[in-house]
Amino acid sequence: MNDSADRRILKEDVDDFGTQLETWRLRMEAALAARLPPADVVPARLHEAMRYSVLGGGKRIRPALVFATARAVGLSEDEVEAAACAIELVHVYSLVHDDLPAMDNDDMRRGRPTCHKAYDEATALLVGDALQPLAFQLLARDPKLPASPAIRLRLIDMLAQAIGTLGMAGGQAIDLAVQGRRLDIGQVEDMHARKTGAVIQASVLMAAECAPPLDPNLYNALLRFANAVGLAFQIQDDLLDVMGDASMLGKATGADSERAKPTHPAIIGISASQQRVRLLHGQAIHALAPFGERAEALRSLAHWLLSRQY
Ligand code: IPE
Ligand code: IPE
Ligand code: MG
Ligand code: MG
Ligand code: MG
Repeated sequence: MNDSADRRILKEDVDDFGTQLETWRLRMEAALAARLPPADVVPARLHEAMRYSVLGGGKRIRPALVFATARAVGLSEDEVEAAACAIELVHVYSLVHDDLPAMDNDDMRRGRPTCHKAYDEATALLVGDALQPLAFQLLARDPKLPASPAIRLRLIDMLAQAIGTLGMAGGQAIDLAVQGRRLDIGQVEDMHARKTGAVIQASVLMAAECAPPLDPNLYNALLRFANAVGLAFQIQDDLLDVMGDASMLGKATGADSERAKPTHPAIIGISASQQRVRLLHGQAIHALAPFGERAEALRSLAHWLLSRQY
C-alpha cells in the first residue's frame, strides 16, 4: 500500500471513530457526575471545585482505552464503567496538581481557568486529595463493577502502582527535577513511561483484569500496545506544546520551553519526534495482531490518537 492510500484509509477510520469517542465521552460525563459528591453538600466549595475540575471537559482518552479494551476482551461498557471513572478521577487529580504554581504554574486547563485560578491553591490541593480516595473507593465498592473481592483488590493495587512513585507521582518528581537539564532521549522516555505511560497502561490492563484470565500472549499484546501508545501520547503532548493551537488544546502552548523541560521536540527536533510517534503507532498496531478483529476499537483509537490536534 502506498503512503497516500494508507493515509486515506486512516482518515475515514478516524472520522468514524470520532462518533464512537463522542458517545463514550457523553457516557463518562454522566457516569462521573453521578459518582461525584453533590455541589450543595458540605464542604460545598470543595465539592463544587471537584465537579468543576472533573466535569465538562477533557478528551476522556483513558476511559476510551478502558472501553476499547473491554471490547477486545469480551466485556460490556457497563462492566468497566466504574474502573473508567476511577482512572479518569486520578487523571484529573494529576492535572489539578500539575497546574499548581509549585509545579507547572498554568492558568488554563480544558479551556477554562485552572482549579487554583477558579478557586484557590489550598482548594486545588484538596481537590486532588479528595479525588484520589474517591477513585479507590469506586474500585472497592462501586456496585456497577461486577468484580469479585479478589479482582477489586487487584484493581486497587494496579491503580496504586500506576500513580505512585513508580508511576505518575514518580514521573512528575523527575519532570520537576530535570527542568533545565540536558537528558538523553532514553532518560526522557523513562520519565514519560512513569508520568504518563503508567496510567495509560493501567487503563488497558485494568479493563483486561475485569475479564476472565487472559492467555499470556494476549496479555502481553495489550501490555506492548499500551506502552507504545502511552509513550507516543506524551511525545505528542510535547509536540502540541510547540505546534498546537492553544484555543483548540484548551491550555497554554510554549509552556515546556519556557520552563526548559527536556522533551523530544527540544532534544531531537520536531520531525524526528513525529517520526518517533509514527514508529510507536506502528508498534502499537502490530502488537494487537493476536486479537484479530476483536481489537478493532483499540486500533481505531490508536489511529485517532496519531492524528489528534488537541
Ligand atoms: C494531558 O492529558 C496530560 C498528559 C498526561 C499529557 P490529556 O491530553 O489526556 O488531557 P485531557 O484529559 O484531555 O484534558
Ligand atoms: C503532565 O504532563 C503529566 C501528568 C501526570 C499530569 P504535562 O505537564 O506536559 O501535561 P500538560 O501539558 O500540562 O497537560
Ligand atoms: Mg507537567
Ligand atoms: Mg503541565
Ligand atoms: Mg504538556
